[in-house]
Amino acid sequence: MIVVDQSPVEENFVQNPYLFYRQILKSGGVCFWKNYNQKAFFEFSTINKIFKDKRFGRELPAGLNNPNEKNLSDFYRIERNSMLDLEGKKHSRLRGLVLRAFTTKNIKKISKDIDTLCADLLDQMNDNETDLIESYAKQIPVITIARLLGIPEDMSDQLLKWSNSMVAVYQADISEKTKRTANQSSREFFEYIENYVAERRDKPADDLITHLINAEQENEKLNFDELVSTCILLLNAGHEATVHTIGNGIYALLSNKINCHFFEGKHWHNTVEEILRYDPPLHIFSRFAYENLTIDNIDISHGEKISLVIGASGQDTRRWDNPLAFIPNRRTLTNNSFGAGIHFCLGAPLARLEINLALKNLFGRKRRIEILQKPEYANIYHFHGLKSLNVEMS
Ligand code: HEM
Repeated sequence: MIVVDQSPVEENFVQNPYLFYRQILKSGGVCFWKNYNQKAFFEFSTINKIFKDKRFGRELPAGLNNPNEKNLSDFYRIERNSMLDLEGKKHSRLRGLVLRAFTTKNIKKISKDIDTLCADLLDQMNDNETDLIESYAKQIPVITIARLLGIPEDMSDQLLKWSNSMVAVYQADISEKTKRTANQSSREFFEYIENYVAERRDKPADDLITHLINAEQENEKLNFDELVSTCILLLNAGHEATVHTIGNGIYALLSNKINCHFFEGKHWHNTVEEILRYDPPLHIFSRFAYENLTIDNIDISHGEKISLVIGASGQDTRRWDNPLAFIPNRRTLTNNSFGAGIHFCLGAPLARLEINLALKNLFGRKRRIEILQKPEYANIYHFHGLKSLNVEMS
């Protein structure tokens, strides 16, 4: 197996990680990534297979300690009860309690509200110079998830701040300062949700927090820490990746000079999937092996942590014809951007709807959109999203 030294925070890599991915795909699709100290898999089918393989999981194997836990106690108090980092019965119970709220059928009910939100945001914009990340891509997902849970919309900025500093823990090479800020945000976020839950117990409403409180009270065994962790997971996961996908999507359409009016609204579904393949918002996830096993002739030991580079799997020529090209009406094939298996993204129907409506409204209402400065991707790997996207529109 080849050994590679590629810093995930090196500027050229951050701006275009796909060059590195293509090299690894060409030389067999697997490497030992020195900077992560892990074997890393890049091919579509291998990643998809590992996502679905119950001999792998996200929860720390019994007997192993997390070396970061000491300085991040408040952060891990939330993580420990997050379905995303659990396996087995505990995972399915937590997932089952919220799953219904996120089914395609239920999400369709808020379609009109999201549509109106997009239109209102566009109406409020200064068309002479607007940063579409700040004024559009960030607003749609955070306001939508806050509304779903029943958190006041004027908390959006604060939610973004807490969430951004918490998810920084997943980045490569984090500093002690990043850890301290993440831990403090976790504490503040926990306390906020704790107080909010107390308020909602007295004044129930038709929202997801009330539903989760009742689930707890009806002895569905959602304990208090689980309740708070689930709310925070939904609030964070509910916007981080969607913000980047809306931004990356608008940029892909504009920089590839796609005439969106040509579609007449017919191909948005394919376009959303193509954006998720071509320039996805999340690039790398990890899994622990729960036994000694061999995947594609590579031996993996019990307790070993491996990387799944989902950002690379959209570039795999075994799966996609001409993967370098952005083809907005490309025939839809499943990609790995929402994961697969038991942790498959719970919010995928919501994210797809938000991205679809964000693009449809923007390109439906603005006939001319010009990029004012070449945008840059933020140095926040494993996330992949633009710092800003300044445009002039009419
Ligand atoms: C374009 C946007 C999004 C992308 C690309 C995305 C991607 C993912 C991926 C890859 C996973 C699985 C991680 C793994 O297996 O290790 C995941 C899980 C999850 N996502 Fe999303 N996500 C998006 C939006 C959302 C939204 C809007 C929500 C709203 C609630 C959400 C909630 C969740 C939750 C709760 C999980 C954990 C599921 C479980 O562990 O069973 N995501 N997401």
